[in-house]
Amino acid sequence: MARVLNRWSHTKTVLLIWFICTITFYSLLRMALLNASHNSPSDDLTVDIVAKDSRASLYDKMARDLHDKGALFLKQGETSQSLSLSDIFALKDGSVTPMLKAADPPVRANVLHLSPDQSSPISAAVRDIFLPYFNKVIWFQNSSMYHFSMYHASHHIVPVPATEAEIEAEANAVRAVADTVCPLNIVLDRVVLTSTGVVLGCWQVLSGTDPLTIRAKLKTALPRSPAKQLYNNVMLHTSFARLLGRPNTYPQEGDKTSELKFFDELVTRANNRLSGIQATVTELWYVEEYDVLALALNGRMKTRKFQLGCSKA
Ligand SMILES: *[C@@H]1O[C@H](CO)[C@@H](O)[C@H](O)[C@H]1NC(C)=O
Repeated sequence: MARVLNRWSHTKTVLLIWFICTITFYSLLRMALLNASHNSPSDDLTVDIVAKDSRASLYDKMARDLHDKGALFLKQGETSQSLSLSDIFALKDGSVTPMLKAADPPVRANVLHLSPDQSSPISAAVRDIFLPYFNKVIWFQNSSMYHFSMYHASHHIVPVPATEAEIEAEANAVRAVADTVCPLNIVLDRVVLTSTGVVLGCWQVLSGTDPLTIRAKLKTALPRSPAKQLYNNVMLHTSFARLLGRPNTYPQEGDKTSELKFFDELVTRANNRLSGIQATVTELWYVEEYDVLALALNGRMKTRKFQLGCSKA
């Protein structure tokens, strides 16, 4: 009897161990499967295709903006960050000069940077096309500072003050994001002139980590950042120049409708020269802008530069 009992308890122990092993095995298997489906290449592909499509329709809409709203920059334009252009620039000794204003607290921007060897030819073409008509009423983006705004840790609309230590922690978090981002191969989709007079390059992604994913990673890495960000999540754009007033000369004298036609023609010329240009982006910058729009206006700033660390491009 004792032997039978002993045997029964032995069997129970074996069964119990088997039961625990099976449960553990299936939970681990399930977790592995879930994880795999999260990061599967086909999921990334879906993100890329959706982002590409919404970028294309966003750029279509931006290209229509000048005709929808008219050339507001001939009256009282605003920047893409809703700052009035007349508050930003002054005509001094016959040349356009930015009026730098301290940003308090400093703006903390995360931008992808385009290297000067890639931006110089673009900058030269933009100058060629626009300078003859807009001499003294145009501001050109510094070609060493061509950048794609990704995500703000703090901006002028919703300032998020930070201590030195908090800024260091943010920079480290952004560095960790940069380590996981793959360099972006991109192509200039189209040049657009906005109703506020900004000449923009709008880019598409050929390969690498999509801006949609980069912004999502930055949002997670910077939990204190403003909920409302300045740009559409899929947008990949860089400012080339800002028009501040009427052209000095027209090909022929004309009324308002021919003015718009003339702007269209300049944009077409820019597109003929620049659309289809390819570039590779390899750096994410964490920038403290001590002046309002420092990146755009050669203001005071502190930049921390991080290489994009993922090797698959
Ligand atoms: C353009 O930016 C570079 C790098 O910050 C700077 O050295 C240079 O002075 C700037 N150019 C102008 C015209 O401000």
